[in-house]
Amino acid sequence: MDPYARIAEWYDLLLNPVLDGVRRAVAEVCRAEGLRRVLDACCGTGRQCAVLRGAGVACVGGDLSLAMLRAARTAARVARPCERDAASTRESPSVAAFPSFPCHLPLLRADARGLPFADNAFDAVVLSLALHEMPESTGNAALAEALRVAPRVLLADYRLAERNLDLPAALFVHLPERLAGGEHYRNFRGFMARGGVEGLARRAGLAVIRRERLLGGAGALLLAERNSRPGG
Ligand SMILES: C[S@@+](CC[C@H](N)C(=O)[O-])C[C@H]1O[C@@H](n2cnc3c(N)ncnc32)[C@H](O)[C@@H]1O
Repeated sequence: MDPYARIAEWYDLLLNPVLDGVRRAVAEVCRAEGLRRVLDACCGTGRQCAVLRGAGVACVGGDLSLAMLRAARTAARVARPCERDAASTRESPSVAAFPSFPCHLPLLRADARGLPFADNAFDAVVLSLALHEMPESTGNAALAEALRVAPRVLLADYRLAERNLDLPAALFVHLPERLAGGEHYRNFRGFMARGGVEGLARRAGLAVIRRERLLGGAGALLLAERNSRPGG
């Protein structure tokens, strides 16, 4: 059973007004850090890929949910990939190798725990608002797999409130997470109990290169890589 089957058609309409800020932040970090070939490993409706492509970044999207991938048609209409698409596809064989989903966005069905790409095929892998909904073992496996296909990861997800100013947003996000269903909410609460996205990066021993505040303080975007220091 696809947990996104019922919501996929409405996902963009309901959530783009909130999540587009996250997608722009991801694109801005890619631009600033010179990340040119990016995999969005839990791409949902492909909106992040479309925004990245609009910023001149060659993005491939993968997701487990066929319903979300089908809804990518709408995402592509809303944020049309620019003409750079064709050029970036020619430049990047790893992108060209995969059949396009609708509207030139190269999207494919793939489990983030076992990606059909070679080691270091990308400059970075985006895991955006997906890790919090996975059981811990799935999230760990997805992160390890992301770090196999790229040296860097961009983790956009919930974090613990750091100051009183963050509290309203941090409390508010319980509402959509609760509405997303019992298992989703249990995984979200487990993720937060383990320290949110910062806790995940710490436990995985990642070196955080850059950090942006998201979602009114309820989230963070971490650009991180494997810690190469001995014992790190
Ligand atoms: C909340 S949505 C976020 C989608 C997108 N990143 C965005 O910002 O709109 C989480 C996505 O993660 C996907 N997902 C969950 N587990 C996955 C897995 N093991 N492999 C690939 N995708 C997965 C879901 O199908 C869903 O599309």
